[in-house]
Amino acid sequence: MKNITCIIGTRPEAIKMAPVILALREDNNFCVTTFATGQHTDMLRQALDDFNIIPDYNLNIMRTSQTLDYITSSVLTGVGSWLDNHPQNMILVHGDTSTTFAAALAGFYRHIPVGHVEAGLRSHDLSLPFPEEANRVLTDRIAELFFAPTQGDADNLTHEGISREKIFITGNTVIDALYRILESKQGVSEPEYLLKAKNKLLILMTAHRRESWGETLRGICRAVIDIIHSRNDVVFLIPLHKNPVVREVFRECLKDYESNIIFTEPLSYSEFVYAMNKSAFILSDSGGVQEEASAINKPVLIMRTVSERPEAITHGTGILVGTDRERIRDEALKFLNDPEHVKKFLAKNIKPFGNGEASIKIREALRKYFEI
Ligand code: UD1
Ligand code: UDP
Repeated sequence: MKNITCIIGTRPEAIKMAPVILALREDNNFCVTTFATGQHTDMLRQALDDFNIIPDYNLNIMRTSQTLDYITSSVLTGVGSWLDNHPQNMILVHGDTSTTFAAALAGFYRHIPVGHVEAGLRSHDLSLPFPEEANRVLTDRIAELFFAPTQGDADNLTHEGISREKIFITGNTVIDALYRILESKQGVSEPEYLLKAKNKLLILMTAHRRESWGETLRGICRAVIDIIHSRNDVVFLIPLHKNPVVREVFRECLKDYESNIIFTEPLSYSEFVYAMNKSAFILSDSGGVQEEASAINKPVLIMRTVSERPEAITHGTGILVGTDRERIRDEALKFLNDPEHVKKFLAKNIKPFGNGEASIKIREALRKYFEI
């Protein structure tokens, strides 16, 4: 029996690690522990609820306005002392958050092999996304096994000198999570908050990236206002991230446009999937949403200047629209005003991020590693 601990801290780690936890639990060769750092509280719990997962341990580190130093140091010492008392054969971390890197470092310091789920994605610019690109690069530097979603991600790793035998191309586990939710939530009823969008065009929007805080986020809000002025038949659904730095800007900048905006608290994963399906298109700076949108063939305008998920752009399932007000407005209006543009987009229907079997492939890779 191999002791494996899956360490998660934030909403996307919870969603994307959930299928891995569930797949490993089905295999008697593994004793699986779910360890939450609590970098996120409500948003982590909400994401896990959709998969009926309750963490076995929770460090509960979150504070309002927490700094990167604070998250990194408290995860490092918290995970480290837990590992000292609970020896593990491997820890699994996911993605690119401060939890990911600090937990991996705690494992590394104890010579515990680290498996990195969603390894190898690169924007090749350490400042974008910030600090996520650095977190991911640093985690890959000290990991033992690499679960790369795509061939391109695997190539990034081999170019950095990582041995091919340690890399497994699996697809992205978010597609496993998405399919699970789509299968289980057939016939879900229309949520009440969508009433305002009846007979209107729904646009789903999320934004929270650290590098966009402040003026960039205000510019994004101005683009929303421009779009409303051009097309009064649209309604934006904006599930607000819990971070006060983000939600205050949205609320303040868009307060006069109530009839065209629906603000909600963060949506449960199944509600968010429902909203993605329901919308005409999505405006987002999220990593996971780029992958999910391609899987359900929904146009996504990516509000970033560079993406570590180039497959979304090269295959045309997403459009990198940057963070300038004018470009966001113009690209969004193309989708609203030009049916041919939409048709051309939908015809591509390419799914570069996997087929929903990533977590099974990760389990098989672990069996191979442990020779069981
Ligand atoms: C973090 C990750 C980012 C990831 C994002 C997913 C880092 C440095 N950042 O960014 O990579 O894309 O999560 O959403 O790891 N808050 C709550 N309740 C919650 C969650 C957050 O109140 O459940 C508030 C707190 O005031 C907290 C703040 O949001 O201090 C910021 O949270 P933090 O995890 O530091 O940064 P995110 O912007 O969420
Ligand atoms: N998501 C959700 N509820 C919401 C907004 C997003 O469940 O209200 C999901 C979304 O489907 C995706 C993930 O959360 O899987 C993205 O999280 P976030 O944008 O916080 O992080 P990122 O992907 O940018 O790291």
